Parts: sequence; structure tokens; C-alpha cells
Amino acid sequence: MAVTGLCLIGFLLMHMYGNLKVFMGPEAFNHYAHWLKFDPDPSDGIDVILYPLIPNGWFIWLFRAFMLAAIVLHMWSAITLWNRANEARGTKYVVKKTLEQTYSARTMRWGGVILAGFLLFHLLQFTALMVTPGFSANATPYEAVVGSFRLWWVVLAYALWMITVTMHVRHGFWSAFTTLGANTSAKAREVLNACAWVIAILLYVGFMIMPIAVLMRWVN
Ligand code: HEM
Repeated sequence: MAVTGLCLIGFLLMHMYGNLKVFMGPEAFNHYAHWLKFDPDPSDGIDVILYPLIPNGWFIWLFRAFMLAAIVLHMWSAITLWNRANEARGTKYVVKKTLEQTYSARTMRWGGVILAGFLLFHLLQFTALMVTPGFSANATPYEAVVGSFRLWWVVLAYALWMITVTMHVRHGFWSAFTTLGANTSAKAREVLNACAWVIAILLYVGFMIMPIAVLMRWVN
């Protein structure tokens, strides 16, 4: 749970950084999307990632396979731990709300389910181009992003989704390092807590700044 969770947080940080390319204009953003994937014209001077170390277009599929494995193992660990906790307890909790548990900690399971549900929508929108609010299916990556986030309700949906994502990450980061043995004293707990908040806030602001900039027409 901890290792796959940290891989997913690493992905989020990279993804957030990549999205900020929108601020460099359509060419930079489309070039970036192109570089991650398959090079349709190897003579245009733009190479794809890790080419020629691996064949043209392989990187994105190796990366997707790795991410998919991380997500599946993360969910499988969650279900296994959920079952194990239920079996060990035998009876249900009488009082579920305890003062020691934060809201994020209490919502990890259902929060994770909601997070994954919207991720499907997200992939249908930007990767498969099957759900296309504000743009057409043959749009460039830049057109898709700008077209989508000109719609206030798309920005609102993402703003809400990102709350579930960053709440999950805040508790998950803390929990992962606790599992890996870093939560050994009151001081360590304080440091872990602070790092978890910094990562969560960084992700929220870093991801949302782009949709908001598009909505406000700071990006054209
Ligand atoms: C405001 C927040 C976000 C924005 C604006 C955004 C934007 C995008 C865009 C434009 C793409 C397509 C890139 C391309 O292939 O051309 C993409 C792909 C993707 N996003 Fe996001 N994203 C956001 C949040 C997230 C979050 C929170 C997650 C994970 C929980 C996520 C997971 C993914 C995945 C897995 C892909 C597919 C990568 C692939 O093609 O294999 N995104 N996103």
C-alpha cells in the first residue's frame, strides 16, 4: 500500500509539473504531449522520450503498464487490509468517530473510490478523447485543455475532485511513511505531518492554477 501509494504521488507531482507547460503556449504544450508518446514524424527533429534506447512510442506504454500495476496493487492492498481489519475486529465499532482520526483518515476508503471513479472520466476526456466537453475529438492536447476549462462546471468538477485527491494524498503520505518506519517520535510525527500538508497544498494549487487561468482567460 505504502510503496504503490508513493509511486502514485510521484506520478501526480510529475503530472502537475507537466500541466504547467500550458503557460508556455500551445506549441510547448503540444510538443510536450507529443514527446511523451509516439513520434509520427521522426524526421521533424522532435524526439520522443527514451528514443532510441527503446523503440518509438514504447515509453508511454511501459509507463502506463507501470502506473496501472501500481493502481491495481494499491486497490488490492486496500481491499485486503479492509477485509483483514474486519475479520480481526469480529464486531462492528460502536462509535466510529474518534478524536484521534482526521477527516482525511476517516474518508480514505470511500475517498479512494470517488477518486478512482472521476479518474475514469478524466481518462475518457483527455486520453481517449471520448467525452469532449468544450472541444472536438480531433483537438490538439492544448485545444482540449483550453476548450474544457473554459466551461465553469468542468473547472468546478475538477476543483471538487482535487479536494478528494489531495485529502487522500495528505493522509496517504503520512500513512506511507509511518508504514515504512519513519514515524518514530513526536518530532518525526510533526515533520511528517508538515511534509504531508506541503505536498497536498502544492498539488492542489499546482493542478488548479491551470484550469483557473484558462477559465479567467489568462491563457488563450
Ligand atoms: C486539474 C487537474 C488535472 C488536469 C488539468 C489534468 C490534465 C490532463 C491532461 C491534459 C492529460 C492528457 C495529456 C496528454 O496525453 O496529452 C491527462 C492525462 C492523465 N491524467 Fe490528468 N490532469 C489532472 C489531474 C489528474 C489527477 C489528479 C490524476 C490522478 C489521480 C490524473 C491522472 C492522469 C492520467 C493517468 C493520465 C493519462 C496519462 C496517459 O496518457 O497515459 N490527472 N491529464
